[in-house]
Amino acid sequence: MERLGRVARSKASLPAVRVVGFTVPRQQQSTSAQQHARVQQAIARNGRGVAAGAAAAPSGPAAATAADGSIEAGPTFDLACPICQTTHLKLQQVNGSPSGDLRCPRCARRFAANPTFADLTLTSGVEASAYKQRLWGGTTTFQSPLVSFVYERGWRQGFAWAGFPGADKEFDLAMDYLQPAYGEVLVDMSCGSGLFTRRFLKSNRFQGVIAADFSESMLGQARQFIDEDRSIDQSRCLLLRADVGRLPFATGSVAAIHAGAAIHCWPNPQAALAEISRVLRPGGVFVASTFMNFTAPLGQLVGNDDLVAPLSQLEPSPRMYKWWSEPELRDLCAQVGLVDWRRSRSNRFIMFAVSKPGEE
Ligand SMILES: C[S@@+](CC[C@H](N)C(=O)[O-])C[C@H]1O[C@@H](n2cnc3c(N)ncnc32)[C@H](O)[C@@H]1O
Repeated sequence: MERLGRVARSKASLPAVRVVGFTVPRQQQSTSAQQHARVQQAIARNGRGVAAGAAAAPSGPAAATAADGSIEAGPTFDLACPICQTTHLKLQQVNGSPSGDLRCPRCARRFAANPTFADLTLTSGVEASAYKQRLWGGTTTFQSPLVSFVYERGWRQGFAWAGFPGADKEFDLAMDYLQPAYGEVLVDMSCGSGLFTRRFLKSNRFQGVIAADFSESMLGQARQFIDEDRSIDQSRCLLLRADVGRLPFATGSVAAIHAGAAIHCWPNPQAALAEISRVLRPGGVFVASTFMNFTAPLGQLVGNDDLVAPLSQLEPSPRMYKWWSEPELRDLCAQVGLVDWRRSRSNRFIMFAVSKPGEE
């Protein structure tokens, strides 16, 4: 069974790098103004970007070279067609942009990429479509460029009201749960502006990080923050547009998935958890944080969530999100075969971890 990012990653192995189809080179030494313009362009393109293998992409030797002549390529990220979930699509981050072959012959589809992210949502690379999927508010809110801009500049810090301990502490907690995946590729699902993606990359604990989100503007913001942080090895990070309800990974191929403050936004958490369970390798880990409902602090105090559960009827359900009880989250995971429930909670904050059973 192939695992994400198991392929060569060091510069020493670069002569073997084969990049087929397309590459979208980015200048290594561009100014932050140029970077900003590029991000804005990518956002404006609304995620349609450059189709893999299209005329916009140069053919021939695909990987661009840095000023010193070396190729800045990271690990190979092993993805799959989001339709058949079978055809492997292998991508590398070459000189800061996704590079590889995004064609699925089985589904007669060619997916798109732009300098910011590869797009493996179902509509990727489709020029126009009469059919428009109706999206849930927890998804559309974060497609706003304004929300994406303010997210890490105040919005996220506001989660403190519910007991979220803050990005650094949440990162430390998550890293503890993620230990079984150290040295492998981590998927930061619904990464938003990448506040944890950057911390995961800088920890140097993972071979690579796939930062995935449905929102083009969040991915644009994540790219900008990564670009601005010169201490980050960009070649180890792939930004990916993906729907958590239809993951572009092969079955049993992912070592770990982290989803910070996101499950309450997902349109169909049950389907998403089933997808997560499908793609995790045996022994793989899922770590997530979210908001609990207003009875949670009382439940914790009396040591029994079930006892206080009837009180949760008094809290109006939010229109776009779902607040959780611990038993609900536990059941949701158990239903899709994820085991070994661990959690850490305080006030209305919870971070939990579950694992895919190992092979018999
Ligand atoms: C509150 S933000 C969390 C961002 C970050 N992980 C954090 O810890 O702050 C929720 C994220 O979920 C994403 N999201 C919503 N629906 C999604 C879907 N169907 N597939 C993937 N991501 C989705 C949004 O775009 C948004 O970036």
